Amino acid sequence: MKPRHQKLAASFVGTLCVVGMALAAGPAKTSKPQPAADQRAPLVLLDAERHLVLEEMRNFLAVLQTITDALPREDMKEVARAARSMGSGAANEIPPVTVAKLPEEFKVLAGGVHTSFDLIALDAESLGDPKHTVSQVAEMLQKCNACHGIYQIKVGKDVRAKSKAN
Ligand code: HEC
Repeated sequence: MKPRHQKLAASFVGTLCVVGMALAAGPAKTSKPQPAADQRAPLVLLDAERHLVLEEMRNFLAVLQTITDALPREDMKEVARAARSMGSGAANEIPPVTVAKLPEEFKVLAGGVHTSFDLIALDAESLGDPKHTVSQVAEMLQKCNACHGIYQIKVGKDVRAKSKAN
């Protein structure tokens, strides 16, 4: 029993040493500024502004869920209603002071998504063709993906996100 305990204790101490060495080596390695893993352009927003933007994003996703749920049932009225709730006529939750911090390209891409929702609603009503709607949704998703590939949101006081992003 006793030797086994000693062995265990020794290996525990050994582990502590390794961890200790790793911790000691850590700061030395990271003292040079490491490039961030996420290289997308940062939009620097206040915490509350980030919350509003992300909330809108989650609304986009929720509406897409409603649309894809309605499509197999060919419930085009529901498709139109859901799409319109995210269209360009929908209440804009993002205050102008926040919008002013967003780069032009971001606004163009975001506007493109709202316009796509407008078109999806109009065509769902006038054509009532689920396959057509699916292809419109796929096209719109390219805009979602395009923007996600370019930007990330950082929380900070810096209001010059525009110049940083360029
Ligand atoms: C104009 C740019 C832009 C467009 C267009 C856009 N997004 Fe986003 N989205 C972002 C940014 C920026 C983030 C935050 C990414 C980060 O910080 O990692 C985000 C985050 C999200 C998130 C995560 C939300 C959370 O709570 O963390 C979801 C979900 C999302 N977007 C869905 C969508 C969908 C669906 C569409 C298209 C219908 C879309 N987005 C279009 C810029 C955009």
